[in-house]
Amino acid sequence: MNSSTAQIPAGKGRIFSGIQPTGNLHLGNYLGAIRNWVALQHDFESIYCIVDLHAITVQQDPAQLRKSTREVAASLIASGISTEQSILFTQSCVPQHSELAWVFNCVTRLGWLNRMTQFKEKAGKNRENASVGLYSYPILMAADILTYKATHVPVGEDQKQHLELTRDIAQAFNSIYKKDVFPLPKPQIFGAATRVMSLRDGGVKMSKSDVSDNSRINLTDNPDIIMQKIRKAKTDPDALPSEIAGLSGRLEASNLIGIYAALADCRVEDVLFDFGGRGFGDFKPVLADLAVAKLSPIGDEMRYLLKNPDDIDSILTRGAEKASNIARPILAEVRDIVGFLGLSTDQMIKLNQDH
Ligand code: TYM
Repeated sequence: MNSSTAQIPAGKGRIFSGIQPTGNLHLGNYLGAIRNWVALQHDFESIYCIVDLHAITVQQDPAQLRKSTREVAASLIASGISTEQSILFTQSCVPQHSELAWVFNCVTRLGWLNRMTQFKEKAGKNRENASVGLYSYPILMAADILTYKATHVPVGEDQKQHLELTRDIAQAFNSIYKKDVFPLPKPQIFGAATRVMSLRDGGVKMSKSDVSDNSRINLTDNPDIIMQKIRKAKTDPDALPSEIAGLSGRLEASNLIGIYAALADCRVEDVLFDFGGRGFGDFKPVLADLAVAKLSPIGDEMRYLLKNPDDIDSILTRGAEKASNIARPILAEVRDIVGFLGLSTDQMIKLNQDH
C-alpha cells in the first residue's frame, strides 16, 4: 500500500467519486482527484461515475454533452483508471441515483442547502434564475455516494462541504427510520495539490468554467501549449523562498510550487530546498518540462482511445451493469424501510433485472 492509500484500512472500504462531463478535464481535476482515484483503485473496491445528471443543472448542448461524456471517460482511462479493477459508468444509466435523491430531498432541510457556498458561487447574483437542480445538486451527490453505501470519497478540497452534507443526510435518514442503513462516508482529500489555483490568479480555483483558457492546463493541451501557459503564469518578482513560511501571502508562488510537488510526488519542503533563492525564470522551465512529461502521454492516449468511441460506450455499459447490480438491492432496502407498498424486495429486483 502506498502512502496515499494508507488512510483507509485495507478491505474495509468502498470508494465512490464523480466528475462532471462539462468540458475539458484540467490539472486541478487530475491532481485533486483523478490521480488519487488511480492510486486507490488497487487496494479498494472503487466506483467512478461520470455525472451527467449533475451536468444538466446548467444548460447543456445535448450533442456536446454526449461528446464530453466520452471524452471524460477516455481521459479517465488514459490517466490510469482500470476498467477491470474499477467500475466506470455514467450516472444517468443507473436510475437508482435519481430515486434515492428524491428520498433524500424529503430528508434534507432547506437550511442545510442554504449554507452551500458552491451554489452561491455558481448561481451568482441572479439566484432566482438558477435551476432547482443546481440548488439541490449536493443532495444528488449524497445519493450518488449512498446508492452504493460507499465509505470513502476521494475529492478535491472544493467538495468538502458537500461531503459534510452527505454525512448529515445519511445520519438524518438513519435517525428518522431508526435503522443503521447508511455509513457516514469520509472525504479523502490528500496530496500536495488538493486545491489547484488558476494560473492567472492565485486567489481563484482552477476551473473548467474560467473564461480564460490560459488559467488552466487541460489534459488535452499539447506540449507547446503547456509550456506557453506555464511561461505566462502569473508570478511575483521575488526569488523563491527556502522555507514554507516564506510562501505566506504569495498565492501564485504557492500554487506553482504545490503543482510541482504533486507532479514530482515529493514534499513542498523538498521543492523549496532545491529551488530556494532562485527566480521564476529558473523554476518555470523545469516545471513546464515536468508537466509535459506527466500530462502529454495522457492527452495522446486519450486521443487514441477516442478513435474508437464504440469501445468507450461498451466500457461504460459494462460499468453501468456492474454498478446497477450493487445499487438495486440497496434501493430495494430503502423502499422497504421508507414504507413504500408494492412489490416485495425480491420481486422488485426481478422486475428491474427483466427490464
Ligand atoms: P468536478 O467535476 O467539478 O470535479 C471533479 C473532481 O476534481 C476536483 N477538482 C479540483 N481539485 C483540486 N483543484 C481544483 N482546482 C479542482 N477542480 C476540481 C473536485 O474536487 C472533484 O473531486 N460535484 C462533483 C462531482 C460529483 C461527486 C459526486 C464527487 C458528483 N457526485 C459524488 C464525489 C462524490 C464535481 O462537480 O466535481
